[in-house]
Amino acid sequence: MLPKMVEIKEIIEESRDVKTFVLDAPWLRGSLPGQFLMVWVPDAGERPMSLSSENSISVKRVGRVSSKLHELEEGELIGIRGPYGRGFEITEGQSLLISGGMGVAPISFLAEKLDDFVALVGARTGDELVLLRKFSRGEILISTEDGSEGRRGVVTDLLEEVDPRDFSSIYACGPDGMLRRVLDLAKELNILERLQLSVERYFKCGIGVCGSCVLDPSGVRVCKEGPVFRGNEVFESEIGRYRRDASGRRIWYGGDSKGI
Ligand code: FES
Repeated sequence: MLPKMVEIKEIIEESRDVKTFVLDAPWLRGSLPGQFLMVWVPDAGERPMSLSSENSISVKRVGRVSSKLHELEEGELIGIRGPYGRGFEITEGQSLLISGGMGVAPISFLAEKLDDFVALVGARTGDELVLLRKFSRGEILISTEDGSEGRRGVVTDLLEEVDPRDFSSIYACGPDGMLRRVLDLAKELNILERLQLSVERYFKCGIGVCGSCVLDPSGVRVCKEGPVFRGNEVFESEIGRYRRDASGRRIWYGGDSKGI
């Protein structure tokens, strides 16, 4: 499927390295937190990007595609496919939200849909805390690795300040190591089925065809059956141990590459 060209209606500078791009794409109305777009940037390529609202993406400048996107101005065009994938399922009762790094993009979109929540939001530094304005409907606890804002440490350290068993749903998005710590804690507390987590993997097609995004050992496709999974669906998976690069080679956390 070819991307549809859409205009960038508005650009919001969230921090030195993060911008929100509001898109003129009326068919995105009704898209869900956790869903993603395949975004094609002219002269750079295509990447999956999580929605940070029904019609926006919030993107950190990290590689070729995102850097090129950051150079664009309001009124310029990009191509999009989607929205794709399974989003977060919203449930009754109080929710616990956990986001690390740019996991805050889909989690902040979710926060705008909920009335009763506690959010744990972590970043490396205070400068990298973005989209906090979108958490105004609930309570927010912050951590930074350098201690410049909130509690010093990683976001999962904030789990010492709440009891996850008190919440009807737990939603998480962030780096694999963070997701594994949340999975292990949910398993220990016997609440894996209350946990929904958004998983990131290398995507080529984004529509369930190429197999580049599968999780071992079940072979579930992150772009199609995910990117949001229940904790019990992925507890036994590779999350937190390794991921695959563009060629399908396993990249073990800790930098050790052991081949396919
Ligand atoms: S990216 Fe192709 S199957 Fe998921």
